[in-house]
Amino acid sequence: MKSKEFPNIVYIVVITAIAALGGFLFGYDFGVINGTVKALELEFNSNAVGTGFNVASIVLGCIPGALYAGYFADKFGRRAVMFSACFFFALSAWGSGIASGSVEFVIYRIIGGIGVGAASAICPAYICEIAPAKIRGALASAQQMAIVLGIFFAFLVNYLIANFAGDPSGIFAFGFKAWQWMFWAEIAPTVAFFLGLFFIPESPRFLAALGRDEDAKNILSKIYFNADEEVVAIKKSLGGVRPSVKDIFKENSFMPHGIIIVGVLLAISQQFTGMNIIMNYGEVLWGAIGFDKNSALLQNVITGVVNVLSTIVAILLIDKIGRKVLLLAGSFLMCLSLGAMGFIFSKGHLENSTLILPEGLGVTAFIIAMVFVFAFAATWGPVLWVLLGEMFPNSMRASGIALSAAAVWAANFAVVMTFPSMLENMGLAQTYFLYAIFPMLSFIFVKFYVKETKNLELENMKED
Ligand code: BGC
Repeated sequence: MKSKEFPNIVYIVVITAIAALGGFLFGYDFGVINGTVKALELEFNSNAVGTGFNVASIVLGCIPGALYAGYFADKFGRRAVMFSACFFFALSAWGSGIASGSVEFVIYRIIGGIGVGAASAICPAYICEIAPAKIRGALASAQQMAIVLGIFFAFLVNYLIANFAGDPSGIFAFGFKAWQWMFWAEIAPTVAFFLGLFFIPESPRFLAALGRDEDAKNILSKIYFNADEEVVAIKKSLGGVRPSVKDIFKENSFMPHGIIIVGVLLAISQQFTGMNIIMNYGEVLWGAIGFDKNSALLQNVITGVVNVLSTIVAILLIDKIGRKVLLLAGSFLMCLSLGAMGFIFSKGHLENSTLILPEGLGVTAFIIAMVFVFAFAATWGPVLWVLLGEMFPNSMRASGIALSAAAVWAANFAVVMTFPSMLENMGLAQTYFLYAIFPMLSFIFVKFYVKETKNLELENMKED
């Protein structure tokens, strides 16, 4: 289909949707564990530490996953990395369901993490490389939409399977238990991703770097009216050399280019908002402020819906008002909401390690938590992945996003692992006051060090 601005907008949207399935699997893999925790505890006889590890181990795979994706994407192409991620997703889904002990289970989860890490790095980069500059923000935000939908669908599928079987440990079908099917269910979207990959082209920017100019031009002619000029611009930006990991360092030094440091700091800032405390410990958090266990599911559903709807706000705004304004607004609102939560928590007192809040404040705390989720999902959630996909020059895009995505996962691990002991040693109020400081820092960082990329062609991205 032709439009005035783009030669074939349907083509662009379809390939974006297929690549974003990688984000869906990233979200699904994270969400699926939620409904299986208790059943795994029973099955493997694990203690609290073992359970924590069953949940968190996936992240240990994400870090090497992101790094290998960057390296292989410049050697074998973006599609090859996405194909390989399918293999890791499928092996992990199947293996997690057949695991007979914690160690075996953790190994399969780490394998899944490699897929998640790879998809988290390469899918946004690929989408940015096939997107026209004018709508690149909205298209790359599809990745975040897919992540939150993946989390949501995992919750939903888990819920339906558990309901049918009566319990996550009950028999669901063919003599296998519900929790096993929860993991196996992920094989369906993995197959969809795998088949979809046959229909999408290689990134034209990768092809141009290989010297396959005609192939690059054929693909670009469906995205731009002036495909010839685009190929010339890409080649010029690469200066006739193929991208390699070395490009992230300044000449003859181990000092990375400024833009790489900005990418890594953006990644850490996104995680230090504490969003994954709510994503991982929602149940503990709502329990700690006095909600009963049965309403945990409802709270999960509300969080999921707020997450999805707020992402739409970002998609609508990102190419109009730009990335920086969104990040600044997000930091501001998150700082306020985290501070407000800390203030409310400071009004409570502890009884048997449950925080008892004065009448009505529990609900207020939950509403403010949802304001926080909105602030994250409409800003830092999608904008980080959009920026990482587009802000690096062609020569260092794959390595830059790989390194930054690895930083996302390392910071994620630090936040998720330290929360239980912060809760125990500092209490909920102090923990939240501490987390309110990080958005202040990220506000200053974004204001002075992050450059706006709205409407810029990838060929115009700078090294510093
Ligand atoms: C973040 C994840 C988070 C997810 C869902 C992503 O942008 O990188 O850490 O769990 O959004 O909100």
